[in-house]
Amino acid sequence: LIIKNNYDLLIIPINDYFSLALEETKAILESINKTSLISRIKFDFDSGIIIVPTIDLKSALTLSERVTLVKYVGLILGYDSKTSMETLKELLEKNFGKDILLSISIDYHHSHSSTLVEQLLSFATQYFPISYVSLTHPIIQIKVHKIGGKSIFTAPLRTSRSDIIRHEPEFRPYAPSATMDAVTSRLIVNLSRCRKNSLFLDPFSGSGSILLEAARLGCKVIGLDVSPRLVYGARFNFEFFSCKYLDIFLGDATKLPLRDETVDSIGTDPPYGRSAIVYGHSLLELYEKFLEESYRVLRKHGYLCFCAPLGMKETLSPIIRRIGFEIKSQHSMRVHKSLTRLITVLFVP
Ligand SMILES: C[S@@+](CC[C@H](N)C(=O)[O-])C[C@H]1O[C@@H](n2cnc3c(N)ncnc32)[C@H](O)[C@@H]1O
Repeated sequence: LIIKNNYDLLIIPINDYFSLALEETKAILESINKTSLISRIKFDFDSGIIIVPTIDLKSALTLSERVTLVKYVGLILGYDSKTSMETLKELLEKNFGKDILLSISIDYHHSHSSTLVEQLLSFATQYFPISYVSLTHPIIQIKVHKIGGKSIFTAPLRTSRSDIIRHEPEFRPYAPSATMDAVTSRLIVNLSRCRKNSLFLDPFSGSGSILLEAARLGCKVIGLDVSPRLVYGARFNFEFFSCKYLDIFLGDATKLPLRDETVDSIGTDPPYGRSAIVYGHSLLELYEKFLEESYRVLRKHGYLCFCAPLGMKETLSPIIRRIGFEIKSQHSMRVHKSLTRLITVLFVP
């Protein structure tokens, strides 16, 4: 139905996660070889929108299906200062042609009166003689967003949310208490800029949440953990979902049994403290050694995305620089009232 090759893409992040969603969008564009689009991204923090201009349809669909911290992603059909029937007529014709079976639902949550919606719908049925209008089972939905005095007309794209939710810990055979939720796991994988068929490592793999998301995006995954119970549990989760892994084995993240510069990306959630099993290391020593080892095994231009308690931010920064990493971005994410997680993305220059 859609006839154009390139669209502007509208992304509306979840409230409170604007900067993290923006970083996630950039990371995914990098992973799918669309780095040139990053400098053209427009965003408006106040209206809470991100626009990726002239992206090809295939990349727009990939981006939409990977990105996690969003409540809406849609192809922009057009902009106008008014929301008129004339505008809709032009946009529909320009984007979909005239003789198509079209089903329209108009989302007017932002601004529009139901009278306008009724007018638009009745107009659409007149204009497209063979069309029908359905608010419950639309083939193409058209949403009208009123942003900064402008109307943005979009067609929604499918996002990853509905899929990811089916992988949440409650649907896994093995999910101990430290298990990370699937949405955050996917976010970490995205921020690590992993690509299809590339080698992805989680050196504190636990029950395998992050590895599962990387495997679902087509990466070859390797995991290790010091606890045999967790290694078996993670393998069991992979079998249950019929997901492939290269290896998940018993090991120590501070002594990785891997050769130098062999891994493309690392995404991980190391222990946080008191409740964590730290196996003979102080927490800081554990982080320092794991960061050194990650730097050694990552290829040049590889990325590491890892979590830490927010309180470690200042202590970790000099260690990260001494090792040789560049800090690409850092974001905090509230987990519960006594824990805020720091998500750090590092780059091997
Ligand atoms: C926060 S949990 C990871 C949770 C995991 N992302 C999940 O969803 O199941 C941290 C993990 O690090 C493991 N661990 C602790 N010290 C380790 C070490 N030195 N090397 C490897 N794994 C270690 C623990 O056994 C634990 O499974």
